[in-house]
Amino acid sequence: MKKILAILLALVLVLSFAACASTAETTNEDSNAQTNETADTTETGDTDASAEDTDAAAEDADAATEETTDAAFTTVEEGKLHMSTNAAFPPYEMVADGEGFQGTGYEGIDVEIAYAIAQKLGLELVVDDMDFTAALEAAQSGKSDMVMAGVTVNEDRLAVMDFSDSYATGVQVVIVTEDSPIATLDDIEGKLIGTQKGTTGFTYASDTPENGGYGEDAVIGFDNGLSAVQALKNGQVDCVIIDNAPAQSFVAENPGLKILDTEWVTEDYAIGVAKGNTALLDAINGALAELIADGTVQGIIDTYITAE
Ligand code: ARG
Repeated sequence: MKKILAILLALVLVLSFAACASTAETTNEDSNAQTNETADTTETGDTDASAEDTDAAAEDADAATEETTDAAFTTVEEGKLHMSTNAAFPPYEMVADGEGFQGTGYEGIDVEIAYAIAQKLGLELVVDDMDFTAALEAAQSGKSDMVMAGVTVNEDRLAVMDFSDSYATGVQVVIVTEDSPIATLDDIEGKLIGTQKGTTGFTYASDTPENGGYGEDAVIGFDNGLSAVQALKNGQVDCVIIDNAPAQSFVAENPGLKILDTEWVTEDYAIGVAKGNTALLDAINGALAELIADGTVQGIIDTYITAE
């Protein structure tokens, strides 16, 4: 009996050692010769055990994926969802006159959708207002949990951050003064263009003529869309290239301006998170899918943008 126990114990030791060795081998990619040797010597005779190990590992993996659906993500500040944005982009995000939407101090489509996502995740929404480029960088570097700022998904940004599913679309348009000689995109050649720094409008406009742009020298980047529009009113620039929804709102508030009929580029807006933050991104996408399916997202968009 004692002998059998001793053999069993030895077997258990060998098996667990084998398990350790194989774990070491898989986790440590540049495993040194020693690890390989250990794995080799213990390999004999434990085919069954390693098969069981794989089963157990598979079960573990299953359990882990199930968990991701709710508790697996972490946020910058516990219990809160920090959204970095540039709140000078009506009707997506604006500084509120009063306490703002649900006391956030801000209002707009992005603020309301973000609030609804936060609610679904059991978190309190915190809006962090900054320059547009800073808002993108905050999410990239994990200073904020996500950037929501009417952010267009494009290849450059996909290289440095991850994006949720799209929740809205935008179109780049051209704002001119009512008496402007600019009537088409061709007329912009040789004119000065105002845009917001760091935006896709800036990128397209300053691109080379071969790529459909007007060249760097033709473009001035302003801190926000409204400053670009003010520059247009003062005659410092000849037109402003910006997303259609804020363009509508700037034109409505500033008499003497109009939007050209020509629509330039159609884009998808999505929520940006730090590259590789899959747990949070999955949670955001899950909440967003529900909010899209039950009509909440469209409802929010419709309260801010009246269909023509
Ligand atoms: N859609 C454009 C972009 O992603 C402009 C976004 C500007 N957003 C803002 N909140 N200022 O570049």
